[in-house]
Amino acid sequence: MTEVVHTPRVFSGIQPSGGLTLGNYLGAIKRFVDMQECGIETLYCMVDLHAITVWQDPADLRHNTRELAAGYIAAGLDPNKSILFNQSQVSAHAELGWLFSCIARMGWMKRMTQFKDKAGKNAENASLGLFGYPALMAADILIYHSTHVPVGEDQKQHLELTRDVAAKFNHDFGVDFFPMTEPVIEGAATRVMSLRDGSKKMSKSDLSDASRINMTDDAETISKKIRKAKTDPDALPSEAEGLKERPEARNLVNIFAALSDMDVDAVLRDVGGKQFSEFKPMLVDLAVDKLSPISTEMARLMNDPAEIDRTLGEGAGRARAIANPILEKTYDIVGMIRS
Ligand code: TYM
Repeated sequence: MTEVVHTPRVFSGIQPSGGLTLGNYLGAIKRFVDMQECGIETLYCMVDLHAITVWQDPADLRHNTRELAAGYIAAGLDPNKSILFNQSQVSAHAELGWLFSCIARMGWMKRMTQFKDKAGKNAENASLGLFGYPALMAADILIYHSTHVPVGEDQKQHLELTRDVAAKFNHDFGVDFFPMTEPVIEGAATRVMSLRDGSKKMSKSDLSDASRINMTDDAETISKKIRKAKTDPDALPSEAEGLKERPEARNLVNIFAALSDMDVDAVLRDVGGKQFSEFKPMLVDLAVDKLSPISTEMARLMNDPAEIDRTLGEGAGRARAIANPILEKTYDIVGMIRS
């Protein structure tokens, strides 16, 4: 079998389940913007079908979807350069998701740590959608024959499963149709941690608002949260090695590095030897400088929801134009009569 070479195409998505965090920004959105500027085709999605795997109030879902789109655009995603759209507006995602539900195995899903985390102790009561979530995620990516997927560290296992789905489909049908997608998990902030506990991921679902920086926080709130962030009593080291056993210190340095587009070693060359009483105000200034323009622009965009909807509608049209022929070809491979 000759190997098909797929043209580079980037896809990623975020759930519009409310409350974009600094983790989403540094781990995902900022990286989306970098990839947009590389001259590769980029598609970025609000994965509303994924969001409803746990309960979403309909009015909140509408609001959060628009707010996420506003966040994308305010952070630098340009609807003329990237295709920005809603997952549910491109029905090929759900259709391929079903086909992949018939390819993926129960055992694969049972191993997913995110399912275990999200379902908690009462897994029997979790939705079937939450269990099958990774099959739909594989469909999101593969319906565009995407080659690269920028994500934070916590999505790694899902991306490995995406490769397993592609490989099993290709093998079962004797084709070389779906590409082996590369996860792009790079930079200083692939796993931004809670400001209150350096062993926990920064998350919108943490009960403590002080544990995270929200993309809608104002300068005063950002400043307060960073000043109160948990640290240790020692001065900062001059080399990354010295952060090994210091999760809170490492987290703040990683955030600084990612926000300033520097690597951790370069940051430590500048701030090594400083106490947190000196470093934290530097981080506050940097964070406010980088994040405030984004939150201001998000608020401005949210004043015109119809324009956001129009942008997403237009993006969905462009996404469908890529997805539908790939879906048709997939149905044909599977043996569905479509004429
Ligand atoms: P979601 O909505 O939980 O998170 C969106 C993106 O933000 C990253 N992220 C973080 N990165 C660093 N530090 C953190 N503390 C942090 N918290 C979140 C996530 O890694 C992710 O990149 N399953 C996905 C959504 C999805 C998707 C896809 C992603 C659905 N289909 C297809 C890529 C491709 C999710 O729940 O992300």
